[in-house]
Amino acid sequence: MTSHTGAMAVGATVAGGIALRQAFNRSNSKDTKTTASTTTAPRGNGKNVGILALEVYTPRTYISQTALEEHSGVSAGRYTLGLGQEGLAVTGDAEDVNSMALTVTHSLLEKYNIDPNSIGRLEVGTETLVDKSKSTKTVLMDLFPNNTDIEGATVINACYGGTSALLNAFNWVESDAWDGRYAIVVAVDIATYARGPARPTCGAGAVAVLVGRNAPLALVDPRERATHASNVYDFFKPDHSVEYPVVNGALSQECYYRALEDCYSKFCDRVDRLNGVVEESADKEHFNAESADFFVFHAPYNKLVQKSYGRMHFMDVRRKYAKDLVRKDSEEKKDDEDQQQGENTKPPQRPGLIAKECLTKPIEETYSDKALEGTLKSISKSSYSKRLSDANAASKIVGNTYTASVFLGLASLVDKAGSRGDLTAGKTAVVFSYGSGALATMYRLHIRDPTSNGSDRVFTIDDMAKKLDLSARLATREEVHPQELDLALETRARMHRGGAPYSPVYPTIGRMFPGKS
Ligand SMILES: CC(C)(COP(=O)(O)OP(=O)(O)OC[C@H]1O[C@@H](n2cnc3c(N)ncnc32)[C@H](O)[C@@H]1OP(=O)(O)O)[C@@H](O)C(=O)NCCC(=O)NCCS
Repeated sequence: MTSHTGAMAVGATVAGGIALRQAFNRSNSKDTKTTASTTTAPRGNGKNVGILALEVYTPRTYISQTALEEHSGVSAGRYTLGLGQEGLAVTGDAEDVNSMALTVTHSLLEKYNIDPNSIGRLEVGTETLVDKSKSTKTVLMDLFPNNTDIEGATVINACYGGTSALLNAFNWVESDAWDGRYAIVVAVDIATYARGPARPTCGAGAVAVLVGRNAPLALVDPRERATHASNVYDFFKPDHSVEYPVVNGALSQECYYRALEDCYSKFCDRVDRLNGVVEESADKEHFNAESADFFVFHAPYNKLVQKSYGRMHFMDVRRKYAKDLVRKDSEEKKDDEDQQQGENTKPPQRPGLIAKECLTKPIEETYSDKALEGTLKSISKSSYSKRLSDANAASKIVGNTYTASVFLGLASLVDKAGSRGDLTAGKTAVVFSYGSGALATMYRLHIRDPTSNGSDRVFTIDDMAKKLDLSARLATREEVHPQELDLALETRARMHRGGAPYSPVYPTIGRMFPGKS
């Protein structure tokens, strides 16, 4: 095992609960400022809790998806065009989530010169368990030798654990329990699949996130966020002797869509309510798939993100169509009353491209509609390029990183758009995190200039982008032959069968990012 190896390194009760919550939300929305546009976000409670810094670690070796297509004997384009992926990070039995988490956390502390004693919360999200009891969080305590007073543990729920850890950190920093110190969230996974169609969606990576107040990437308003939780078996790991999941690929996509649509519809309602948007007008519009400047999605593979973003546009059109129908009904009633006056009613609007039956039938019945999928792709294409391609750039070449995926997306956004100077104060990014089983949350961050706050220590987007240097670092990785993926996964399978103690066999000399002295 290595450490510090890389500098890259269901009834009445429920109904009652909902009613109570709605009443609570209504009473709390009274003191929220109404803004002209949903792109102008309400600014929370002034604490500006959010992300201060980000650090990424990935293995130094990767496999090209084009080479993998050829090696696997599948048709050209199956992984590159079919899944939208270009590469995947590969690692064998010489690395595990503990070593990767140590590396990325150490690197975060070092790059930002963070005193380990200034950390009051440390929480990890992972589903690649090294031990069923001893948490990766406790392993990380070696980096905090004089500080035993650190809350937090390891959170497990497929790809969602890191987001749960982040929400815990946000809550702590926002609460009366906060003692002024920072929180760190580490999301880390090695995504592996048995031979078959899911194997090209392997990958590995870790992201460490520094959380505090006066953040340059701050939560817009905690009341906006929306969660979907359900009991489904789309992806799970019931056999403790193998690392691979049992996965139903088609079901997992449907579950992802369901979670996204549930979160998105609740999220839109909450943002609209908090912004006082009841009726769409010239200066107020309902929150929609183009209201935010950027979107960051959990990205098992790029094609799913593209399709999912298209479905958000579909949701917008369905919502508008449903509202127009209600309006038309009431206008028709009025029209009946006013018939003598000869008034006409307007038909409900819908983009002509989408078949009318798709707008009214149960949404689940549209999941496998390929014609609709193509239409949504063309409707959302240019907005996708503008709003999602930066965040997806890293996962396209690193692959799935499970819990770390959505954080890698944030890092990629900072790296690409931040370096271009496009992450200017006032812009917003909507984040969607999904973990099979299933749990999902949507929340919104806004970009701030924290320098005017007068704090002793200021973290900025510019500094984050420079320190991440993500594209440049990923460009230094070494491409290895696709057969390395099989070898690496065999060594990991051997490790799982062997248990402890264990000596790694996967070749690592000269194949890891150099450690720092
Ligand atoms: C995602 C997954 C189901 C894909 O498996 P698959 O067998 O390749 O699935 P398909 O046969 O439907 O092919 C996928 C796409 O590639 C396309 N494709 C296949 N061969 C192609 C080729 N040569 N050129 C271009 N496209 C090609 C298919 O038409 C299909 O396109 P579509 O998505 O637009 O319909 C599989 O990788 C998986 O199980 N992954 C893990 C689970 C997962 O990540 N779930 C996500 C939610 S968390």
